Amino acid sequence: MARLTDARLTDKVALITGGARGMGAETARLLAANGATVVVADILVDDGKATAQSIVGATYRTLDVSSQQGWSQVVADTLDKHGRIDVLVNNAGIDLIKRLSDTTLEEFERLISVNQLGTFLGMQTVANAMIEAGGPCSIVNISSVAGLEGVKNHAAYSATKFAVTGLTKAAAKEWGRYGIRVNSVHPGIIETPMTDGLFVDPNVRQRVERNLPLKRLGQPADIANMVLFLASDQSSYCTGQAFTVDGGVHP
Ligand SMILES: NC(=O)c1ccc[n+]([C@@H]2O[C@H](COP(=O)([O-])OP(=O)(O)OC[C@H]3O[C@@H](n4cnc5c(N)ncnc54)[C@H](O)[C@@H]3O)[C@@H](O)[C@H]2O)c1
Repeated sequence: MARLTDARLTDKVALITGGARGMGAETARLLAANGATVVVADILVDDGKATAQSIVGATYRTLDVSSQQGWSQVVADTLDKHGRIDVLVNNAGIDLIKRLSDTTLEEFERLISVNQLGTFLGMQTVANAMIEAGGPCSIVNISSVAGLEGVKNHAAYSATKFAVTGLTKAAAKEWGRYGIRVNSVHPGIIETPMTDGLFVDPNVRQRVERNLPLKRLGQPADIANMVLFLASDQSSYCTGQAFTVDGGVHP
C-alpha cells in the first residue's frame, strides 16, 4: 500500500558528480538541507573543497568521471567512510557549441568520455554497491532538453545527452527488481557557469526571456528541486522517466 511521504533524506548518503559549482553545487546544498550526507565529486579541486566546506557534513572527492579507476576509488572511499550510497546524481557534464561539420574527432570523443562514458561508469560502479546493499536507492542522471530533441550547433552534446536518456531507461528496467530507481532530468537554459558567456549582452538575455513561456531563465534551484523529488521517496513509483525542467519550452 503506497503511503504519503516527505522529501526528507535523513540517513541517506548522496554522491553528486560535478558538484563543485553550478546546478551540482545547488543540488548538494539542497539534498544536505533535507538530511542527506553529501559527497561532492569533481575535477575542480578548489571549488569542490569550498562547496563541500560550506555544507554541513559534506566531503569533497576529486573524480574525473571518465576514469573507471577513479570511480572505483571514490565509491570504495565513500563506502569505507559512510557504509552506503543511497543516491547518485550523475551531473558532471561539458558542452560544445559547434556545427557538426566543424566538430573534430577529439572534441566528439571528449564529450562522449565525460557526458556518456562518465554517466555509464557512475551508474555501473555505484549500482553494484547499491545492489549489494539491497535498496531502496535512486540514480538521477542529468541529461538536457538536447537529450530529447536535436539542438542546432550541439550535435556532439546532443548525441551524448540522448545516450544518457537511453542509459536511464534501460537501467530502470534492469534494476527495478533491486529497488533502484533511475530517472533523467532534462534542463532547458539554466544560469550557471556553463552558460555564463551567453547572456552578457542584456539585449540577448531579454530576447531569450521574452520567448520563454515562464519569462525567465532557469536557476540551479529549479533543477535541484526536481533532483530532490527524484532522490526522495516522494517519487517512489517513478522510474525510467525523463523529467523536463525548461520553463515550458517543450510541453
Ligand atoms: N546550464 C544549462 O543550461 C544546462 C542545460 C542542460 C543541461 N545541463 C547539464 O547540467 C549539468 C551541470 O551543468 P552546469 O550548467 O551546472 O555546468 P557547470 O559547468 O557549472 O558545472 C559542471 C560541473 O561538472 C564538472 N565536470 C566537468 N567535467 C568533469 C569530469 N570529467 N569529471 C568530473 N567533473 C567534471 C565541472 O568541473 C563543473 O563543476 C551538465 O551535465 C550539463 O550538461 C546544463
